[in-house]
Amino acid sequence: MTKYGSFPGTRPRRLRTTPVMRRMVAETRLHPADFILPAFVREGVSEPVPIEAMPGVVQHTRDSLKKAAVEALEAGVSGIMLFGVPEESKKDAAGTPGTDPDGILQVAIRDVRAEVGDDLLVMSDLCLDETTDHGHCGVLDAEGRVDNDATLERYAEMAQVQADAGAHVVGPSGMMDGQIGVIRDALDQIGREDVAVLAYTAKYASAFYGPFREAVGSSLKGDRKTYQQDPANVRESLRELALDLEEGADMVMVKPAGPYLDVLARVAQESDVPVAAYQISGEYAMIEAAAQRGWIDRDAAIMEALTGIRRAGANLILTYWATEVARKLR
Ligand code: PBG
Repeated sequence: MTKYGSFPGTRPRRLRTTPVMRRMVAETRLHPADFILPAFVREGVSEPVPIEAMPGVVQHTRDSLKKAAVEALEAGVSGIMLFGVPEESKKDAAGTPGTDPDGILQVAIRDVRAEVGDDLLVMSDLCLDETTDHGHCGVLDAEGRVDNDATLERYAEMAQVQADAGAHVVGPSGMMDGQIGVIRDALDQIGREDVAVLAYTAKYASAFYGPFREAVGSSLKGDRKTYQQDPANVRESLRELALDLEEGADMVMVKPAGPYLDVLARVAQESDVPVAAYQISGEYAMIEAAAQRGWIDRDAAIMEALTGIRRAGANLILTYWATEVARKLR
């Protein structure tokens, strides 16, 4: 065989020769403990309700939620992030079910906590969009704009009822200015210093939340662009990070994950607390939909997407595939 010069002088392919070689040199590994399962619980239903735009995900009944929590725990998942879907007739302008101790989310927190104790972290979405009749993440002023400071008062109360229900971690996702500080104070004031705050630090106004809006039966008309971030910006996320850390965030999150890996990498570099990323409903739906049509290898695509999120710097990943993937990793 003719030899052309001295190339290749270096052979990176040596480290790709066999599965065990590739496994040994892998720079990124996934572990069940990295995962948090987001889950929906709907008030007043006797059977789980499938979410059309998220094949395989349901709005749980109180009972099926408990089962899902136990399955996540048995698979080695670290936490479950709960979203409550109240009966439509209970929603109002102030999002009252969010602060009612018997609101569906608080009931679900108690249910799950009774089932899993301290073996699975019970986390709760702290936001008003699931409970308001207008669907915004906060309360509105006379002109119909989301009123930041009035919303903070609602969040403070929500944090307290969620903590009283037994949440280990609260997850403020409304992107109001000052929300982390106010929630930390509200928790400390009632002696819940142990309840951690997982801040949705860099949360973008994303089209990929589409399926989630079905999942929580959102009434939103319009968009959330006056409080969620513009996809064009990354510097803004570093500012949000600095504020959340100063206000006492225990963990910070970037959301969505896949289309924002650069943001995730920057936040991971700057943060001195654990960094989470939320692989959201639209990211889930795209892979499931393409796989259903036979256009991609579902399992490989899921692992690749999750590995990318880890590689970009996430310590923790919220994903609707948490239990399935954790089982596979065991
Ligand atoms: C707000 C909230 C949203 C999601 C999580 N928390 C929706 C939104 O901001 O519109 C989206 C999660 C997903 O799409 O999977 N409470």
